Amino acid sequence: MAGDDLKKLADRAVADIAAVKDVDALEAARVRYLGRREGALSEATKRIATLPAKEKPAYSAAVNEAKARIEAALDERAAALREAALGRELAAEREDMTLPPRRVRVGRLHPISQTVREVSRICATLGFETIEGPEIEWDYYNFEALNIPPGHPAREKWQTLWISNPLGDDPSRPMLGRTHTSPMQIRVMEKRRPPIRVVIPGRCYRYEATDAIRESIFFQYEGLAIDEKLTMADLKGVLYSFARQVFGGDRKVRFRPDYFPFTEPSAEIAFSCMICEGRDPECHTCGGDGWIEAAGCGMVHPDVLRRVGYDPSRYQGFAWGGGIERLAMLRTGAPDIRLFYQNDLRFLEQF
Ligand code: DAH
Repeated sequence: MAGDDLKKLADRAVADIAAVKDVDALEAARVRYLGRREGALSEATKRIATLPAKEKPAYSAAVNEAKARIEAALDERAAALREAALGRELAAEREDMTLPPRRVRVGRLHPISQTVREVSRICATLGFETIEGPEIEWDYYNFEALNIPPGHPAREKWQTLWISNPLGDDPSRPMLGRTHTSPMQIRVMEKRRPPIRVVIPGRCYRYEATDAIRESIFFQYEGLAIDEKLTMADLKGVLYSFARQVFGGDRKVRFRPDYFPFTEPSAEIAFSCMICEGRDPECHTCGGDGWIEAAGCGMVHPDVLRRVGYDPSRYQGFAWGGGIERLAMLRTGAPDIRLFYQNDLRFLEQF
């Protein structure tokens, strides 16, 4: 066989191999071209030995090239056949309608997130825009600007977690995990002019021993309305409407005087205990008095208004701040705040 013939042989073999339909046909093609005894190429290989020395190199090169092309074609076709077989297998599997379906686990919002959204939604119906603020706060916003200067006894009520100040621990500007969302009242009033209607949900921190209704990390929501001619009647109207929307007619609402340094007058809102309905003096959730304190509120103190440059003879406002977890407890009937943070899916999946 001359060199040209070898090239033609290889061309034919490559075309032939590319057309085989299955593994058996592929093996037959391999034997046909490369088989030791009868393979078309082995005949040519044997011939090398019989050639005169000067023809040998060119001829063996042509044999090798033909062999390499045929081997490559065999490999390529084998891979293609394997892939096609796998594809068929997968397609067959996909069509197996008898397999039980895989269980789909759909996530859900944590009951605290659900409650935050519910508060935002309800406040939106009352005209309040939801905004957020920093969890790490300056002493100024958390205390001073809210009429709680250093040494004021109200600070004791808000034992907190002080943190080192990344700007260099300047002792004249202490920083803390905010103890309530009320500092956002100041930040909002500094930035905006009345009318203001905002609600601010967010995480708060206190140095506190936990019990059934207290956690050291918890959520509050803060409402603030500033306008001309706002009165305590507006505050009550908003808070009662809020309570109706959260609980329907289920909870009784108790509204009574309280004291906060940044409101005057101040009041407290409590809801009737959903666990004992006031009938169990030993109740762990309400402590036995039948009421769960849910929010502090009041008319924004004139000194607070003055501090942010508002004229208290023109503008008045009301504010309230409540615990998200307490609302979540009242909504879900969860008897202990700590249940929300134990990450036990058996509890969380109920909501
Ligand atoms: N910040 C207070 C607390 O954490 C609650 C509070 C009381 C918020 C009166 C207010 C308010 O906006 O007017 O106990």
